[in-house]
Amino acid sequence: MSQDIFYPNRELFKDSPIPNMESYKRLVEEFEKDYEGTWAKFAKEKIDWFKPFDTILDESNAPFYKWFSGGELNVAHQCVDRHLATKKNKAAIIFEGDNGDQRILTYRELAYEVNKTANMFKNEFGVKKGDRVVIYMPMIPESAVVMLACAKIGAIHSVVFGGFSADALRDRIIDATAKLVVTADGAFRKGKPYMLKPVVDKALESGCDSVEKVCVIERNGEDINWIAGRDYSYNELIKYQSSKCKAEPMEAEEPLFLLYTSGSTGKPKGVQHSQAGYILWAQMTMEWVFDIKDNDTYWCTADIGWITGHTYIVYGPLASGATTVMFEGVPTFPDAGRCWKMVEEYQINQFYTAPTAIRLLHKMGEDEPSKYDLSSLRVLGTVGEPIDPPAWKWYYEAVGGSRCSIVDTYWQTETGGHMISPIPSATPIKPACATFPLPGIIAEVIEQDGTPTPIGEKGFMCFTKPWPSMIRTIWNDPERFKKSYFGDCKKDGKSVYFSGDGAMVDEDGYITITGRTDDVINVSGHRIGTAEIEASIKKHPNVASVAVVGKPHDIKGEGIFAYIVLKQVPISKADEVADDLETMKEINQIIKSDIGAIALCDGMAFVPDLPKTRSGKIMRRILRSIIKGEKITQDISTLEDPTIVSTIENIVNQ
Ligand code: WT7
Repeated sequence: MSQDIFYPNRELFKDSPIPNMESYKRLVEEFEKDYEGTWAKFAKEKIDWFKPFDTILDESNAPFYKWFSGGELNVAHQCVDRHLATKKNKAAIIFEGDNGDQRILTYRELAYEVNKTANMFKNEFGVKKGDRVVIYMPMIPESAVVMLACAKIGAIHSVVFGGFSADALRDRIIDATAKLVVTADGAFRKGKPYMLKPVVDKALESGCDSVEKVCVIERNGEDINWIAGRDYSYNELIKYQSSKCKAEPMEAEEPLFLLYTSGSTGKPKGVQHSQAGYILWAQMTMEWVFDIKDNDTYWCTADIGWITGHTYIVYGPLASGATTVMFEGVPTFPDAGRCWKMVEEYQINQFYTAPTAIRLLHKMGEDEPSKYDLSSLRVLGTVGEPIDPPAWKWYYEAVGGSRCSIVDTYWQTETGGHMISPIPSATPIKPACATFPLPGIIAEVIEQDGTPTPIGEKGFMCFTKPWPSMIRTIWNDPERFKKSYFGDCKKDGKSVYFSGDGAMVDEDGYITITGRTDDVINVSGHRIGTAEIEASIKKHPNVASVAVVGKPHDIKGEGIFAYIVLKQVPISKADEVADDLETMKEINQIIKSDIGAIALCDGMAFVPDLPKTRSGKIMRRILRSIIKGEKITQDISTLEDPTIVSTIENIVNQ
């Protein structure tokens, strides 16, 4: 099947911005001929500037690139206010709660809510331009309102995924030295309330001295603790705010938000994004990759705690004046038909989700889509991890009725928006393949010295020219920024951005992403650093050393597997391993409280030692091969103790 090519269905794509491959190629050539000029053209056309920019790209302090310097804009104005003239009564956000409750915010209502919230932040909490606001929220419209309110007054938001633990939240609050934390009492999941505010309370118990106020939004109405003078009710304060608020003029390069993500060392990185470059690409990719039209209803199932939620639930859809659906619940509640029921109900035109959700829905309800009218769908998107051909096929046939284009969008927290993706109206699609770089993106699969990797072989997925929506720096750590992204690969002697992913180009120039080359695992499309999990496991008093690797998993893509050496009772026999279920539970408890349930181990093995070189380096590659059941092809003679490999194999395979 991988040889099959699927062409766009012409009936579905009329008046598309990139209508066919010829126009795609023309646009690519336009960027080749005049890279900066073409970007400037789009920046002028798409952004409602308060003050025009005077420099397109400033490379003088590479890799700290600057785009559109001198220009002034406001992202909330770009996403909301500027649409009021033509779309004030159009639905901006359609919300569906876990229990099926619905709410619709028109652009006018959204503008008023954003303004009231912005005034509250300024007047009640003293938030000023440049201050950091941590947002720990469920999937409710207020989350988008709060993000946009920050943008309106120039505060820098840092959304922390609601599944992260109190400790993980605290670390992010401290790193960002946040002044305000915005949260909710909790929300609903699978028909039951769950809580967020108590997690904030716990996070703030120690070390978060920068936090002055906590703003609490009511969602589930459950009882929560209030600390007088620190905690304030959003629902109460909002009543007294004016619905008018001037947009703060922001310089193009001032930070819009931080979003923490995992790298190959222990500490999460605060990825810093810009105002102009970020919003420009969010809007352009929304139009190119989702072919969004004025009458469309678009739904992305991500959580606002991840970059997909930022760019493709809030900023991209609203910048392009679209109607974006926000869903509080999970795709499997009350049954595996929930998403398809919603597609029918709202007549969704673009549906964007992760391969892990597709695999789960496929497994739970192979024929479920056929029970609903899904004929409104035109574009189906996937993101977060490579999609496997069986999942792709089911998505294409059962969900898309063999009619829709599937866009396998490859990108990262750091890239701000899509990088490599089919264009649904133009690209002949090979299943489970991200296909070609978007116009304006210079993507190359190369060796570390910049030579192109031969066709069909794995190389480094690099972006060899700066692009507007790229990460600007790591908050508080510019050196780590340089080292993490510009330290590995060079082209023509110049450091270029390396994504951390491997990729392969085929004879037709199609790019397939082969996965991370570093110690980062991708669990259900979420990035988790093995070093973070290892640091957590080492906190158990009986753990001497540990190595964590990814393990293939049917639904999650990758699961988490830990090889652990205990201080006492080194265990090598089957019956004794079982005795240590208690320790396993304790270890998972530590991970849960340190990071959150997303980082729980799917498996552990207690081993007498880890495969180490004589210089003490753990050979993770061997450990990865063992858990995958692969034959060990590496040379193990350089190990301190080569026999350890078969010992571990026996333990794992028993
Ligand atoms: C990593 C980025 C981008 C938003 C969601 C995840 C992997 C992402 C694809 C894809 C294969 C993909 C990469 C990347 N990835 N999209 N279409 N095909 N792999 O954002 O948490 O920053 O993770 O996700 O490994 O580096 P993130």
